[in-house]
Amino acid sequence: MSDVPNRGAPADIVRDKLLYRPASWFEPLVLGTVFGRAAPLEVELGSGDGSFILEWARRHPERDFLAVERLLGRIRKVDRKGQRAGLTNLRALRIEASYCLEYLLPPGTVESLHIYFPDPWPKRRHHKNRLVNERFPELAWRCLTPGGQVHLRTDDAGYFEQMLRVFGGDTRFRVVETPGDLVLVITDFERGFNAQGIPTRRISYQRL
Ligand SMILES: C[S@@+](CC[C@H](N)C(=O)[O-])C[C@H]1O[C@@H](n2cnc3c(N)ncnc32)[C@H](O)[C@@H]1O
Repeated sequence: MSDVPNRGAPADIVRDKLLYRPASWFEPLVLGTVFGRAAPLEVELGSGDGSFILEWARRHPERDFLAVERLLGRIRKVDRKGQRAGLTNLRALRIEASYCLEYLLPPGTVESLHIYFPDPWPKRRHHKNRLVNERFPELAWRCLTPGGQVHLRTDDAGYFEQMLRVFGGDTRFRVVETPGDLVLVITDFERGFNAQGIPTRRISYQRL
């Protein structure tokens, strides 16, 4: 997108430099076009205000990062903060995460998938709304590169059990140690839970 102010255009079109609008919402993203280069890709689903991905992208300029978030106000914050930080390896996509996983991420392209503190939907009748559900490992497997990893964190014990169950039932994944430098990057929600003394859990899986 051009830096030149576009007179007459809606304000967000001029301002939202990292917010990515694909030419088609029905075709897989063309990553070379999204980032303007070829580099390993990491994706965060439900990035919130971007506390994790902004810091992780800053630490890894040699990689590309996609923040996926359905709330406009939050994704705009990712955009603003990313621009302020001068990040050229970050794009923000306002879309529902499972749609992105199933239809927009090209197969075999994602090296790391980050899902931190997804909405827990604690009531049993709402469990069907959880992002990490029975179908999730299949969708994650498809978009990951061989050897690619999924990193999960949650404060909800029941949701954590569900994460262990759905990935444990898929022999195409194995549990791996979460990299130490990754553990040290704390998300906004995690900081809040830590401050309140609420325990959080994490686990990582690798696509075989
Ligand atoms: C509890 S917050 C966690 C935000 C961030 N990951 C963190 O740890 O600070 C969950 C975020 O996921 C977003 N979200 C929830 N369900 C989503 C979905 N299906 N697709 C995209 N974003 C979603 C919410 O809008 C919210 O910003």
